This record gives sequence, structure tokens and C-alpha cells, in this order.
Amino acid sequence: KQTDMQFPEGFLWGGAIAANQVEGAYQENGKGLSIADILGNGIFNPPYEHPGKKNPYHEAIDFYHRYEEDIALFAEMGFKALRTSIAWTRIFPNGDEETPNEAGLQFYDQLFDCMRKYNIEPVVTLSHYEMPLGLVKDYGGWRNRKLIEFFERYAIAVFKRYKDKVKYWIAFNEINVLLHIPFVGGGTVIEEGENKKQIIYQMAHYQHVASALAAKACHEIIPGSQMGCMIAAGPYYPHTCHPDDILTAMEMDRQVYFFTDVMARGYYPTYVKRWFKEYDVELDLTAEDEQLLKQHTVDYISFSYYKSRCASADPSGLEMVSGNLAMGVKNPYLKASEWGWQIDPTGLRFTLNQLYDRYQKPLFIVENGFGAVDTVEEDQSIHDDYRISYLRDHMIEAGKAIEDGVELLGFLSWGPIDIVSASTGEMKKRYGYIYVDKDNEGNGTLRRIKKKSFDWYKEVIASNGASL
Ligand code: BG6
Repeated sequence: KQTDMQFPEGFLWGGAIAANQVEGAYQENGKGLSIADILGNGIFNPPYEHPGKKNPYHEAIDFYHRYEEDIALFAEMGFKALRTSIAWTRIFPNGDEETPNEAGLQFYDQLFDCMRKYNIEPVVTLSHYEMPLGLVKDYGGWRNRKLIEFFERYAIAVFKRYKDKVKYWIAFNEINVLLHIPFVGGGTVIEEGENKKQIIYQMAHYQHVASALAAKACHEIIPGSQMGCMIAAGPYYPHTCHPDDILTAMEMDRQVYFFTDVMARGYYPTYVKRWFKEYDVELDLTAEDEQLLKQHTVDYISFSYYKSRCASADPSGLEMVSGNLAMGVKNPYLKASEWGWQIDPTGLRFTLNQLYDRYQKPLFIVENGFGAVDTVEEDQSIHDDYRISYLRDHMIEAGKAIEDGVELLGFLSWGPIDIVSASTGEMKKRYGYIYVDKDNEGNGTLRRIKKKSFDWYKEVIASNGASL
């Protein structure tokens, strides 16, 4: 059906993936081990090492060898942009080398050339849950200031190499993951007896400085480039109108805004003074760090949005729900996916407005989608109407936010082709417009099959959203 929904000219429709969840080839052409290579059951499920168990990220969907076929399918849908990450360990296998691995650099040359051939704009994340294991083992991960230097070296190497191919960059995927899974966000295991908050906020600070240095280098090396930050968004609604619930929801939202406040405004918000006092946190933060943060803020704010949640001052006895990093109180007005992620398209419009009111910087939806089990019919068709319905509802709300006055660069749906799930390591939690023949045990031909949503999205893009 045609609506009068207006998306701006040049709106970046497309999809988003991450190297570790698609590429496979985990030891090819000099690639070192990343943390994903030992996360056999997904990022939420320690223990991380699983002797004898097949790690789903080792082969993933073999995008490393099949990217030409996959990009051609994205191009057939009319993609304007594709977000992916560079596997840091293809470029610096242990993380601390002086010079980059040429074979790793060549792979992304070919990948970005292939996207460019189809006029697909690459949007590139530098670190998406796949930091070098070497930096974990030899340096303790992001609790070590030296990581800033290694990250900067990596960023400079790829900016120089891809300066004519990539304009949109993101430093850290869902930087707020540090709060929930320090190992995945920071490559650090927090031991019993350590001050958890001290370590988490210190790692956040080092990543903020690393992001600022990446923004600096990006702008110097690639004229006209755009450096973004990236958070896992999704608001906390007060569970009731009790003033204590309102305040709790504000506090919970601030835990996420903390990161964007620093990277978009260039300084630590005043509310952290109380936090740090209460948590006994003392940051290693130099005057030079402060200068860098101030001078090199981000050009746009990107985020993933899957769901909202509720906050209560007294959650005892209330039903909790999980989903994309953070737990929250169940919202009785919302339905949920099979994995319990609550479905709330209006929350996307709300999030876009909240972020835009707060920063007045362009926003970019770089993840949204519906993880579901798909059934392949005898005739090989896949009727994923549930996915179409989820995405359509969210795209319409994004359109309404644009009408509200929000500046939105694009909408990149998560996993346009089925990939390995980050939270569970499963294949059966599928997000794609394209089905990949592979199951949770790693069996399957890896054949790609178009789902019903494939043609649906093609039409959305061709009509620039008018068909929604
Ligand atoms: C985001 C991550 O948190 O959610 C992705 O950036 C992830 O890496 C996505 O895949 C969806 O989560 P899941 O667990 O369903 O794969």
C-alpha cells in the first residue's frame, strides 16, 4: 500500500552485519584469534572456552568466501548502504604488532570494492565484539591504558588504506555493553573482590579517549568522513507513574546516555560526580584526555534498537524480561519475540526524539530487526510475515520521527542475511531477508534462499519508504 511517508532523498536503506558473525575463515591469511573465536555459546553464556565443541563463529556463514554472492543479493534488494565491521585480528592478529597484516587489508579492499561496484555505501565498525584475544591475554584488555595506543594504530592503518572507499565509520559497537558483559566489551574478566564499577568506568574512559583519537585521525586522513558512536538503545519507561519509578527510569536511561553524553558533547556530565562518589570510582583521566574528548566529538550518533523495557524503584516480585544486553521489568502492554524481546515500534520513535532533543546531531539506526525461527516449505519458499510486520512497524515509526523533525541518516536492519546470533551463538535465531541453510549444530549446505521479506524490502527501498 502506498502511504504519504516521506523519507529524505539519499536516505541510507540497507543492512548491518559484523565480521565475527558472518565471515568465518577464522584462521585464514594470518588472522589472529579474537574473543569471538572462544565464545562458543554466544556472548552471554560463559564459560567461554568449550573444548571439543564446534564454535559457531569459526565458520559462521562463510561470508569471507561468499561475500560476492551475498553483496550481489543485497544489491538486488537495492541496498544503499551496508554496515559491517573489520575483524581487528585480520589486520593486527595479536593486537600489538607494529605493522598491519597485508593479507587482512587486502580482503577488505576487495570487500569494499565489491560494495562500491554496486553503489553500496560501506558503514564500518572498528570493533564489534571481536577484539584480539592477544590483547586480553597479554594486557588484561581495556583496563590497560596501552589499549588506546593499539586501537589508534589499528584505526590509522585502516583509515589510510580505505580512505577512498569508506566515509562512514563507527568506533565501538554498543559501547554500553561494557556495563553488562565486560569481557565482550572490554576483554576483561572482573575477579571476585575487585571494584567492578571502577574497572568498568575506567575501561569506558579509555574507549572514549580511543574514540576521540579515532575521530581525530579519521577527519585528518579522510576529508569529509563521518565518525559516529554507537550504543544499544531502547528506553526505560517508568513502570508506574509513582515519582520514584520516574526517577529510576531516568537513572537507568542515564546509564546509557552517559556514553553518548561524553562522545557527542565532549565532556563528562555532571551527574557522574555523584555516581563516582557512591561507587568509589576514581578515573585515570588526564588533562590531555579531557582536551581530546572536547576537540574530537562524533559527527553522528548511531544505535541499535530492538526493544524497550520498564524500570521500577522496587522491582521485587515483578516479572523481568531480558533482551539485547539489559534486563528490565516486563511491560504488560507489549508482546515479545520467541526470545522474550519485547516488541515496541513506538519506542523507536521515542528513542529517536529523545536522542535528537539531547544532542541535535544526525542519528543513524544501524541495527533493528526480528530474530525468529523460519520454516522452509517444500517448494523452498519462506513466509516470514512476522519479520515483515516487525520491520514495517519500526520503519513507519522512524518515518514519523523524521516528521517530528529528527535528522536521520538511514535505516540499516540487522542481519539482512541469516547470521550467527551474538547472544546465544545460535543459527536458528534468524534475522535475514536471505535464509542460510545451516543449523545450530553447524550442519547445512550454506545455500542462500530468498525469503518473502526479500521482495518486500526491495519494494520499500525502491519506493524510498512510500510502499510501507
Ligand atoms: C546487537 C549486536 O546487540 O544485537 C549484534 O550488536 C547482535 O552483534 C544483535 O547480533 C542481535 O542480537 P542476537 O543476540 O539476536 O544476535
